[in-house]
Amino acid sequence: MNLLEILCNENGDCMTEMKKVSEMEPDEIKEEVRKAYSRVAENISDEGISSSCCDEPAQTQSSCCGPAPEAKVTRVNLADALGYDTEGMPRSATESFAGCGNPVALASLKEGEVVLDLGSGAGLDMFVASKKVGDTGKVIGVDMTPAMIEKAKKNAEELGISNVEFRFGDIENMPVEDDSIDVVISNCVINLAPDKGKVFREAYRVLKPGGRVMVSDIVLSKELPKDVRDQVVTYTGCIGGAIRDEEYLQHMRDAGFRDAKITSKAGESLYGAYSAYIAGTKPKR
Ligand SMILES: C[S@@+](CC[C@H](N)C(=O)[O-])C[C@H]1O[C@@H](n2cnc3c(N)ncnc32)[C@H](O)[C@@H]1O
Repeated sequence: MNLLEILCNENGDCMTEMKKVSEMEPDEIKEEVRKAYSRVAENISDEGISSSCCDEPAQTQSSCCGPAPEAKVTRVNLADALGYDTEGMPRSATESFAGCGNPVALASLKEGEVVLDLGSGAGLDMFVASKKVGDTGKVIGVDMTPAMIEKAKKNAEELGISNVEFRFGDIENMPVEDDSIDVVISNCVINLAPDKGKVFREAYRVLKPGGRVMVSDIVLSKELPKDVRDQVVTYTGCIGGAIRDEEYLQHMRDAGFRDAKITSKAGESLYGAYSAYIAGTKPKR
């Protein structure tokens, strides 16, 4: 696939007139992200334009969505392919799934823990986490797309889950109290934040001493070509906003995290973007 195919849909409508990401203010970038994920929440296909993580063109590059799928992958069987136990989950929780890994599986959650999911989307990771932490624990999700928050709330109602809470907000300025969280998880979201340093400073602030962060995200093994980085569709598609793996870990260390490391990776895509599991801990006082 070439860039023109990413930027033009089958009707020949091209997005070359769009402003470049490097010319946009952070709030303008976030508005584009919000628009793209409102469409995912509403389950609207972009007809050949890859505007969100795991849309079809991105899948063929095996980036946002982990290993390259052989067959056509829907969001529902993408969750299965990533090892989610989707048994009993409402379709509406999996149809808007847009993750690039399964951070809950690796976060070794315990009964009673308080979990925070950054960019919680339609809530799939929260629902899986809620079973693990049980009634004595709690899972909080923060998302800046109202349609995603609404969808996640409806899904929780349908599942009858009461230990989850959805908060509308920006992960660069989290609506969460200091030192209140045991585990921060996130699935394919931090790449979309214009200020990743701020996200990790906030994650550090809200974690209890000894708390841990366990995310899956897209990072880069080499710099992206400028024309790829500058396209809104590659940004909202979880590639354009991704940064070099070492830079990502450095943001975590600068925020105060110990042992920041990539614990595992999935196959690289065109442009050197790959899906990684990344972990760190906030030191005990
Ligand atoms: C790729 S989707 C992932 C959703 C979910 N984690 C999943 O695995 O299905 C990205 C989500 O992050 C949210 N998001 C992106 N940037 C955000 C920010 N700065 N603050 C809060 N939410 C954000 C979007 O609204 C969207 O729901």
